Amino acid sequence: MKLCSQNRKPEKYKQTEAMFYRRSYKCVYLKSIAIFVVVLFVLSVKPGFLRVPSENHHPHRFIKSFPITTTVNITPKVITIFQTINYKDKYCVLYYLWDYDSEFATMKNAVTLVLHASPTHLKHLEAQIRSWTGPISVAVFVPTPEDTQIRKSGIRVKAIFSAIRKLEKRLLAIQNDRSQIALHVFFEKKGTSECPTLNISRNFDLEFPVELDEMEHFTLPVKLYPINAGRNIAREGVMSDLFISGDAEQVYSDGFEKVMSMIGAELIIKQKRKVALVHRRFEVADNVELPRNKAELKKLLANDSAVPFHKFVYPIGHEIRYLDDWLACPDDIYNAVIVPYNNTLWEPQFVAANNIETPFHDERFPYRFKSNTHLAVLLCYHDFTFAVVDNIFSVHRGIKYNQTLENEFLYTYGKRNGLHQIFNIFNNELNETYPASKVDQCGTLWFDVPQNVTLKSNCTS
Ligand SMILES: *[C@@H]1O[C@H](CO)[C@@H](O)[C@H](O)[C@H]1NC(C)=O
Ligand SMILES: *[C@@H]1O[C@H](CO)[C@@H](O)[C@H](O)[C@H]1NC(C)=O
Ligand SMILES: *[C@@H]1O[C@H](CO)[C@@H](O)[C@H](O)[C@H]1NC(C)=O
Ligand SMILES: *[C@@H]1O[C@H](CO)[C@@H](O)[C@H](O)[C@H]1NC(C)=O
Ligand SMILES: *[C@@H]1O[C@H](CO)[C@@H](O)[C@H](O)[C@H]1NC(C)=O
Ligand SMILES: *[C@@H]1O[C@H](CO)[C@@H](O)[C@H](O)[C@H]1NC(C)=O
Repeated sequence: MKLCSQNRKPEKYKQTEAMFYRRSYKCVYLKSIAIFVVVLFVLSVKPGFLRVPSENHHPHRFIKSFPITTTVNITPKVITIFQTINYKDKYCVLYYLWDYDSEFATMKNAVTLVLHASPTHLKHLEAQIRSWTGPISVAVFVPTPEDTQIRKSGIRVKAIFSAIRKLEKRLLAIQNDRSQIALHVFFEKKGTSECPTLNISRNFDLEFPVELDEMEHFTLPVKLYPINAGRNIAREGVMSDLFISGDAEQVYSDGFEKVMSMIGAELIIKQKRKVALVHRRFEVADNVELPRNKAELKKLLANDSAVPFHKFVYPIGHEIRYLDDWLACPDDIYNAVIVPYNNTLWEPQFVAANNIETPFHDERFPYRFKSNTHLAVLLCYHDFTFAVVDNIFSVHRGIKYNQTLENEFLYTYGKRNGLHQIFNIFNNELNETYPASKVDQCGTLWFDVPQNVTLKSNCTS
């Protein structure tokens, strides 16, 4: 690991496995935040178990119990009854609607890709399984089933339910019937009632044929998508020792998971270092193919067909120094280079240990209100260092030149509704919990981007 750029003590990781899936990338367009919607699922009755959090809800401790599913034969249909589980008294979760195949459930050193999604974003899973070589745990937010009895929304329930089942069949075909993905579904718990059971017919997709592409016709926009509950629920479904919390639309470069797994196995698992393995993110123009490796990326950067992520709309959140060094380093050596944590607006995405030491997302932060950024702040307070891994990266399709109206709407809406008060609460908690030296080192979280941001220039690791 290089300790700042001047103190190079590299441990070199050669890429040993050269074989990865061949990828065929479809254009993945960032869709408007979508959200909404409904429930249910189908599922063939799989052997195996539901893993259920203990009653007090310790996030990463699972009790392996017998399935909380029952199958009833109401001729001619086979119905599976799923018990949903209370999550922090706010949501009901159907864990493991899809479960990993044992091959993926037992990859200890693998990096599990943790995703949250609305039903319209589920279509991105197909691209994910073509490039991600480890397990994937995804939480899908749907409307509360009771609600769906109202008016036409019963149709939405059926549509989503059906589309999820259909997607499952398609993905299993691509993966030769090995399931790489664990999928959990959650919805808002309304009122004081218990979390319901859901009766799902196994062949729902045949009864109500709907494609994922049509999802938008069946979804409702909701103002505030519970993004962090989704991230945390999906993280509960991580079985490996390493994870990365990402976005469904993001596409990872060749070998990303294998390289992270190799470096993570050494630094995080073996040496037990508290390090977050960060990667560089880029935006790529609509009219070029997505780069699969650094050589391809360099060509696109050279003519501005690719730019560092959010370069035009929010550079302070994503800029990582030493880009030139990173571009220049040899292609087959994977260092993790420590970068200073000098900016609480920085929003790194990282691989970290899936254990109690890595904080969960704070669910008090709503969508678009530093829902991810605050986690980096917490990592700093928890004595993590941040190290940028050479050669691997991720890309988003489309270069963003302007903030979307949607973003601005959410921001204004949230502010009007006092959602930014969480910032004061959070900062005060940090101030009360940690010594002044730590507050000085790691800083506080800003709501608005200050006019003059002073970045600390010292290497503080
Ligand atoms: C689900 O099925 C069970 C057993 O057949 C039945 O008792 C229950 O009322 C059903 N629930 C719903 C919501 O249909
Ligand atoms: C930029 O370079 C890429 C790769 O060499 C090429 O495919 C693309 O057409 C170029 N774009 C422009 C605008 O020159
Ligand atoms: C840290 O500070 C430097 C300027 O001194 C800046 O270029 C860089 O983007 C900052 N953040 C990170 C994560 O490197
Ligand atoms: C971005 O917004 C500005 C001002 O609102 C506008 O003038 C400009 O054309 C927009 N750029 C793009 C690429 O949409
Ligand atoms: C932290 O708390 C101390 C004493 O309680 C106070 O003087 C200081 O201003 C606080 N700092 C911040 C950044 O809130
Ligand atoms: C920002 O920094 C510049 C240069 O340091 C200074 O002249 C200016 O007054 C500052 N603006 C604000 C709003 O603090």
